[in-house]
Amino acid sequence: MKILVVGSGGREHAICWKLAQSKCVDKIYAAPGNGGTAREAKCENIPLKNSPDTKAGIAELLEIALKLKPDLTIIGPEAPLDAGIADTFREKGLLVVGPGAAAAKLETSKVFSKDFMDKYGVRTGHSKVFTDAKAALHYIEGYKSLPIVVKADGLAAGKGVVVALSLDEAKNAIVSFMEDKSLGEAGNKILIEEFLEGKEVSVLAAVSVNAADKSGVILPFVSARDHKARFDGGKGPNTGGMGAISPVPDYTSDFQQDFEGHILKPTLRGLIAEGLSYQGFIFFGLMISKDKTYLLEYNARLGDPETQAVLPLMQNDFAELCIAITGGNENKAKEGLPTVPPLANYRLQWKTGAVCAPCLVADGYPGPYQKGDVINIDQAALKESNAHIFYAGAVLDNTDKPESASLITNGGRVLAVSAWGENPAIAREKAYKGIQAVSFKGKGFRMDIGV
Ligand code: AMP
Ligand code: GLY
Repeated sequence: MKILVVGSGGREHAICWKLAQSKCVDKIYAAPGNGGTAREAKCENIPLKNSPDTKAGIAELLEIALKLKPDLTIIGPEAPLDAGIADTFREKGLLVVGPGAAAAKLETSKVFSKDFMDKYGVRTGHSKVFTDAKAALHYIEGYKSLPIVVKADGLAAGKGVVVALSLDEAKNAIVSFMEDKSLGEAGNKILIEEFLEGKEVSVLAAVSVNAADKSGVILPFVSARDHKARFDGGKGPNTGGMGAISPVPDYTSDFQQDFEGHILKPTLRGLIAEGLSYQGFIFFGLMISKDKTYLLEYNARLGDPETQAVLPLMQNDFAELCIAITGGNENKAKEGLPTVPPLANYRLQWKTGAVCAPCLVADGYPGPYQKGDVINIDQAALKESNAHIFYAGAVLDNTDKPESASLITNGGRVLAVSAWGENPAIAREKAYKGIQAVSFKGKGFRMDIGV
């Protein structure tokens, strides 16, 4: 089986790593991939001239796919989904794991997503939509409590949510989004949302909804937790994620049941009722507040860095899971491939124990940071730690000779060191030992992932 994976982050490296373990996978193409996927077993990077987030990039990828003829294409990040890559590929008869642009709106428009939650009774914080800055400013004058949560409607690479601790901060966010257009079109509409105090949990899940026959299933994965603030103790600016753990010790089976009843099931009902076919992954960003689970957001993809903590716990063959998501192949299995049932009859199995996956970031991140520093790995020390590296902002300095080339930093989040242990404390110890095996100039990380 040949699989095309679109994206270049740590999540995509983890996906390629997991796919490489599958007996039915012969070849993985990572487009464009990164320094980690370039060296992954069975994997080859496909350089792109255009960003996969653009129409030109999608056209380029389609041309590549029609040439390479992958049995399956997995879309990692949200921006290509928003730009319609899954729709374009499906129109050409290609099997895709990733929702079309209409269903991806659950992530790409916070107003659409909130309307969906309210319409189908998905438990979430109260909110109000504004299309006019004056009305929003007037509304918060009467706001009784702090903080005030201000959210821009569109995709904003993590910069679209402000949890304002004062009225002035909330006003500044409204003016910045709506009048100064700091996020471009993404801030044309905003939400002002009730602040929910509590602990966050990420639940990733596989989704297969066929709107035409009004059927579907959402299979949740083991829980995970991201650590978004740059510094220990949750201090400092928000980042794309400084590390993840899985499972989350305080996410009890009672919370899991509460989530399934009040969030997962109504979401599935809503997708079917709205006629939103969906073959891909979904991410539920939960807040556990006052002993209940609330939905903060959907993402139309797997989480990053949650995937780097969750996939090492998955016992299933990832290629088989992807086949199940696209409807299974019981009636049309190719020779040599295992027959896989549709997702409704598919069972997920998880390893016991826990994974801790802290991220290493470039100096200055999430502000401006340096690129181009050599990443050195002490292979013996890494082996001894039993940790595994998933690369993100890292590329090879010579793509023609991947084996002898050096890895150099190329992004803010450079890599995640992911380690499994019999319990969270052992996983943590191994991961932090693994970190000592990695060096690059200005290497930064949090000491408290999984504490
Ligand atoms: P979102 O993109 O909606 O998940 O928001 C990004 C982050 O802002 C979340 O991960 C939370 O840490 C925080 N956040 C969002 N909405 C709320 C809320 N209603 N109450 C408290 N924190 C929130
Ligand atoms: N870790 C949060 C996200 O993937 O959006």
